[in-house]
Amino acid sequence: MKIAIIGTGYVGLPTGVGLAELGNEVVCVDKSEDKINALNSGKLTIYEDGLAELFAKNVQNGRIKFTTQMKDAVPQADVVMIAVGTPPHPFTKEADMQYIHAAAYELAEYLSGYTVVATKSTVPVGTGDDVEAIIAKTNPTADFDVISLPEFLREGFAIHDFFNPDRIVIGTNSDKARNVMKKLYQPFENKTKFLFVKRRSSETIKYASNAFLAMKIHYINEMANFCEKSGADIREVAQGMGLDSRIGNKFLNPGPGYGGSCFPKDTNAMAQMAKKYGVHLNLIETTIAKNDQRKAEMAERILSHLSDRKNGRVAVLGLAFKGGTDDCRESPAMDIVRDMLKVNRNICVYDPKALENARKLLIENVDYASNPYEACKDAEVIAVLTEWEDFKNLDFVKLKREVLNPCIVDLRNIINQKQAEENGFEYYCIGQIAQN
Ligand SMILES: NC(=O)c1ccc[n+]([C@@H]2O[C@H](COP(=O)([O-])OP(=O)(O)OC[C@H]3O[C@@H](n4cnc5c(N)ncnc54)[C@H](O)[C@@H]3O)[C@@H](O)[C@H]2O)c1
Repeated sequence: MKIAIIGTGYVGLPTGVGLAELGNEVVCVDKSEDKINALNSGKLTIYEDGLAELFAKNVQNGRIKFTTQMKDAVPQADVVMIAVGTPPHPFTKEADMQYIHAAAYELAEYLSGYTVVATKSTVPVGTGDDVEAIIAKTNPTADFDVISLPEFLREGFAIHDFFNPDRIVIGTNSDKARNVMKKLYQPFENKTKFLFVKRRSSETIKYASNAFLAMKIHYINEMANFCEKSGADIREVAQGMGLDSRIGNKFLNPGPGYGGSCFPKDTNAMAQMAKKYGVHLNLIETTIAKNDQRKAEMAERILSHLSDRKNGRVAVLGLAFKGGTDDCRESPAMDIVRDMLKVNRNICVYDPKALENARKLLIENVDYASNPYEACKDAEVIAVLTEWEDFKNLDFVKLKREVLNPCIVDLRNIINQKQAEENGFEYYCIGQIAQN
């Protein structure tokens, strides 16, 4: 089939590449000339495991193309997917719909023949109605259906998740659109569950899912706080809880608070959207407030291990909002560094993939290192803020030669505590009373 993807970011690009790999002809549109120029010269604009190989292959065989022009993508498309950003509005914290509305206006005039317009972006309930109205007004003769097609991929696993989705949710009442989508996703027919629902239900499923996951993280963080006082160990508690199939073992890792480009904005958008309908989502509102507070507490926790809060050297390992991605948007690590910088200007940071993005979003007044050992030179405390696999295999003997004081604050509970302690490090993780 012929697919146009509007917005070629963390969702649009892996989705486009995945659909091309399935044999479709894909044209990805982005208004950023820099992005499109980079992609057209064979350079990836994001880091995702497994993306490079599939990208190169499908560029070479001509199944995926990149353009800044709607007219080069939309007219021939059977399905147009909207995957532009829906960032939080800076004041109201609602989803900012300007990019969705602009994309709808821009694509409308180029629709030709029956087309399914699928909203992949995470959008408030009723957005499908708005997009439909914009297209109908801009191009009164267009033959189209607007459907909701929420995206559930996880950054860092985008390619894996594209080919192994837990479910494909399609929100539409149109049989014609349903049949087009069944054909497009036919390769997944025996692999995953298809859920055909009302468009408004589909829009809600995405927000309700993300808000639930954010609450689950908040819950285990609260349990970790309890363990730190009561003498239980959250790692054991989480393991025991996770064996209950009603609870499940995912999202039970305590940490410095959730972050990333989705959970903070989607929890806020869900809470604000509900207020418009006169509903107060107390659990979600508490989760949002406590998560913000937690990041500030974590900064304090790290600084408390310095002999001199203002001048002691801090090594930060990890800036991405989670392992496996170069994305630093709303990363707890970045917030924690910013909080520490209010007190301490002697911080050295390292991340295996996210340094370039971090430089754009942060951080003056920090030193950047090109490996973890360099970052730890003369440090009084090493703070592990992102769960990169690389950090699980640190050479403690080498590390100890670099630091001024052997102390690790592991906010991701990924370091091998026994090995660290055997090598003379003080080790502090989340959800366990400190042994030292
Ligand atoms: N990132 C994730 O893990 C993830 C997962 C599920 C859902 N989502 C949702 O998907 C949507 C996109 O997220 P993202 O992380 O890919 O965003 P992104 O910022 O990485 O990419 C969005 C792209 O859209 C482009 N764009 C904006 N307006 C445009 C227009 N009118 N025409 C063409 N291009 C335009 C931007 O230049 C940008 O490259 C959001 O609603 C997000 O909530 C994201």
